[in-house]
Amino acid sequence: MTEAAPLEVLWRRVFELAARGRFSTSPNPRVGAVLVDAAGAVVGEGAHERAGDPHAEAVALAAAGARARGATMLINLEPCSHFGRTPPCTEALLAAGVSRVVCSIEDPDPRTAGRGIRRLREHGVDVLVGAFADEAETLNEAFLKSIRDRRPFVHLKWAASMDGRTATRTGDSKWITGEPAREDALLLREECDAILVGAGTVLMDDPLLTRRLALSSAITPHRRLVLDGVLRVPATARVFSAAGGEVWLATAVPAGDPRLAPFHERGVQVFSRRAARGGVDLGALLGALHALDVRSLLVEGGGITAASFLSAGLVDRVTAYVAPLLVGGAGAGSPLAGEGSARLADAHRLAGLDAVRIGADVRLSARIVPPVVG
Ligand SMILES: NC(=O)c1ccc[n+]([C@@H]2O[C@H](COP(=O)([O-])OP(=O)(O)OC[C@H]3O[C@@H](n4cnc5c(N)ncnc54)[C@H](OP(=O)(O)O)[C@@H]3O)[C@@H](O)[C@H]2O)c1
Repeated sequence: MTEAAPLEVLWRRVFELAARGRFSTSPNPRVGAVLVDAAGAVVGEGAHERAGDPHAEAVALAAAGARARGATMLINLEPCSHFGRTPPCTEALLAAGVSRVVCSIEDPDPRTAGRGIRRLREHGVDVLVGAFADEAETLNEAFLKSIRDRRPFVHLKWAASMDGRTATRTGDSKWITGEPAREDALLLREECDAILVGAGTVLMDDPLLTRRLALSSAITPHRRLVLDGVLRVPATARVFSAAGGEVWLATAVPAGDPRLAPFHERGVQVFSRRAARGGVDLGALLGALHALDVRSLLVEGGGITAASFLSAGLVDRVTAYVAPLLVGGAGAGSPLAGEGSARLADAHRLAGLDAVRIGADVRLSARIVPPVVG
């Protein structure tokens, strides 16, 4: 692009570049940058491709060379101001003589958190914040949640029939959706740093929980977790022996219990923490994952597990694949077990609904609206 492009087009490009990092930047954010000269012509662009690789700003500056002097940088996240795996972008922008930076949102990383913007302003760079902020929040929802709340972003996913069943009354659940929808769901595994299912799903389906598409190149290792309060799953379940990253067993059984020995022998990481009200302390489990730079956790069911995360207020996004199928039966599988809400006023509200047709099925995805406190 050498001629002036409309602002919308330039920002679309910023987000396109940032989205390249969907399967590779974790634990870092997805960032794209476009540099435009005074006439509005693009002189450089860049994406952050992987943690440890140059930041989007550095790539765009390198592409622009001397043409960066006096230019404007459009970027979906505040430039960093600290030495991490790479040097601070603020210094590179100052050295290149960029005169204006327009960024969507502040970086909540405590090492930056407004410092990048301040440093640039102190050195005479005109900085504007807030352009396409909603898009920027959604693009980096996992990174932002994890930095702000010190726990991974929790993404609940299921496949259901049009009458809302996730399995028949006999537990038959293969397959509710068609191949294109199942392939789409596998992308979520590639994108999330960790995946979790409950003991019931392991006993019924014996899943591997592995990534199949080999798309992820993130430096955070993929972790597979089984939630089993009273230890019902056998150590011989396929998930504990399949290759493909670390496997965790999260249980309320005390750490020294001899029944855990076969899991230890298989190299399974045992997380043992009983919540005051029984079951596994899910907040503590998420805290332990956060300490390992796990930005996002995909909870793939079943209904009891999904309900226990939801009732603990620990779900951020729900994705439901809905198939044109009617299963029926009061005893059939439900995506959310438990008592549910007594009144609609108490039901969990979702926002930002995205509906996409995938093959014969539909993918519905929306984020949970946190309850108003007070
Ligand atoms: N269609 C779909 O998308 C989909 C996806 C997954 C599963 N499924 C189907 O769902 C069915 C299984 O679902 P389910 O609801 O019966 O079982 P589930 O949710 O897979 O597992 C329930 C078990 O997980 C453990 N658990 C959950 N929350 C816990 C907590 N907070 N603390 C400690 N342990 C906790 C408990 O194990 P303990 O009892 O050992 O303590 C609980 O009994 C299967 O038929 C499967 O095929 C369908």
